[in-house]
Amino acid sequence: MELKGKNVIYSGGFGGIGQAGVKELLKSGAKYLTIFDVDENKEAMTEFKKSYPGATIDFIPVDMRKKESITAAFKSAVKKMGHFDVLVNGCGIMRDSEVDPTIEINLLGLMHSTLIALPYMDKSSGGRGGTIVNISSVVGLEPFSLCPVYVASKHGVTTFTRCLGDKIYYDRFGVNMITICPGLTDTNLINNFPSRCIFKFTEQQAIALANAKHQSAEVCAKNMIKVIETGKNGAVYMLDLGNIKEITIPKWHQPTFLEN
Ligand SMILES: NC(=O)c1ccc[n+]([C@@H]2O[C@H](COP(=O)([O-])OP(=O)(O)OC[C@H]3O[C@@H](n4cnc5c(N)ncnc54)[C@H](O)[C@@H]3O)[C@@H](O)[C@H]2O)c1
Repeated sequence: MELKGKNVIYSGGFGGIGQAGVKELLKSGAKYLTIFDVDENKEAMTEFKKSYPGATIDFIPVDMRKKESITAAFKSAVKKMGHFDVLVNGCGIMRDSEVDPTIEINLLGLMHSTLIALPYMDKSSGGRGGTIVNISSVVGLEPFSLCPVYVASKHGVTTFTRCLGDKIYYDRFGVNMITICPGLTDTNLINNFPSRCIFKFTEQQAIALANAKHQSAEVCAKNMIKVIETGKNGAVYMLDLGNIKEITIPKWHQPTFLEN
């Protein structure tokens, strides 16, 4: 999808990957960009508006832990924007000791956001279709033992998004469902990484991992924009160390139908 002239909602737009993503979307010509986040970052907002005076940039507070808050945010966004073509679900936390908030924000919030957005975009009932990008992680592709709670939330994101990427939904809604899986990216999410793991005795392994190679949020965001522009419905893209790789996940089971 060409982004020029498009209306975009970016959930988590004041985060590390979020701010870089918002800038790239505006650079690519997004016309109206609404940020959903828990608090406004006034400094970032001023900077966006100064750098991209041709676009309308808005902020709507949302708490991804509350379905009513997500519903109200979309209602208010659509009232102001008229419609949206792209939704990026990019909120997230990594604090494995906080099991409920991790699942509420990373998985339930993202599921509600997607399901609330779809009827607004639904081509079969007057919407324009579009693209929904759900941000998972490389740890949403396979086990990563130090943060099992975060990992489970991200596996949920990957599989939920792949399910909605089925042709049966695309043919009706006209909405591309794309999963992106960033590798380690320099943002606050992974600051003091050992404290984010579930068991303290894994600290040494966590310290070693914190020293592994990272990509910058800017590099990750540039590749996310490429994926929005060219990505396939239902596809999963790993965005790691500046590279984009489409991931093929094996299928293990087919239902056996009863013969008549
Ligand atoms: N940084 C990484 O290494 C990395 C790797 C893979 C995936 N990710 C994913 O990328 C996405 C963005 O993460 P980031 O690295 O930019 O982290 P970040 O901490 O910089 O940004 C997270 C954003 O989520 C928002 N948020 C948190 N709780 C919220 C709530 N209850 N309601 C609304 N908004 C809330 C924060 O305000 C923030 O803007 C997340 O989904 C994260 O899991 C990050």
